[in-house]
Amino acid sequence: MTDRVLEVNDLCKSFGGVQAIRDLSFGVAPGEVMGLIGPNGSGKSTTVNALAGVFPATSGQIMLGGAPVQDMSEHARVAMGLARTFQTASNFAEFTVREQVMLGGAVTLKAHPLASVFGLGHHAREEDALRARVQDILDLTGLAPVAEQTVGTISSAQQRFLMIATALAAAPKILLLDEPAAGLVSHERKMLADTIKAIRDLGTAVLVIEHHMALIMEVCDRIVVLNFGSKIAEGTPSEIRNDRAVIDAYLGEAV
Ligand SMILES: Nc1ncnc2c1ncn2[C@@H]1O[C@H](COP(=O)(O)OP(=O)(O)OP(=O)(O)O)[C@@H](O)[C@H]1O
Ligand SMILES: [Mg+2]
Repeated sequence: MTDRVLEVNDLCKSFGGVQAIRDLSFGVAPGEVMGLIGPNGSGKSTTVNALAGVFPATSGQIMLGGAPVQDMSEHARVAMGLARTFQTASNFAEFTVREQVMLGGAVTLKAHPLASVFGLGHHAREEDALRARVQDILDLTGLAPVAEQTVGTISSAQQRFLMIATALAAAPKILLLDEPAAGLVSHERKMLADTIKAIRDLGTAVLVIEHHMALIMEVCDRIVVLNFGSKIAEGTPSEIRNDRAVIDAYLGEAV
């Protein structure tokens, strides 16, 4: 199954007596947008945190590009091609927008930090390449006009796009987005949908958690549905919209 950028097998996570994820298995193909939906407390953020390595899974296997990563650190998983955003915005208020996104890309620099002190050419070339990539990311996420502003002065919607931009700068194979539309109004959600599609078009897979069903149905190729930590359905948006178990557990009759 090495054609999958992410493969999750029988993942379990317990917090004391609470089993937050039970035997969860799914895979994401390169350039695919996968949705992860379900009621509050169904285990979506726990899944993202376990995939990212915030805490170890209780059991199960996580493969990135065919390599098992469940025993690796959070940082090592970023280097392996997994980047994520958080459910609540977490940025560095004193930095400029451009500086923060550059920092997100620092993991992609291979040269030793001292190379710049000694003026070694390959370091300068690497940094130039990162600068160019960061400019593309600022354009893609609509942040170019505020690139030189400090992070603390931009709007809360821009803060959310900045989290995405920072994660993208790590050049991930898969980007995990935990409720990226939280606090966004209608035209900002439209921008977010366009941004997610643009990320996909660049060949990066996306795993997106959202309660905003119109957004999920618009951007996702496939959707996994959790309820009480277990997968109750997986399919295309139209399959999920018409799935009786999903309607009963989460969607109601409205979607
Ligand atoms: N660090 C933790 N310690 C103890 N219990 C936790 C922890 N994180 C999550 N849980 C529990 O695990 C379950 C799943 O929580 P999780 O945050 O993954 O849900 P969610 O699907 O992201 O919900 P929401 O839609 O509200 O964000 C809940 O019962 C929650 O209380
Ligand atoms: Mg959550």
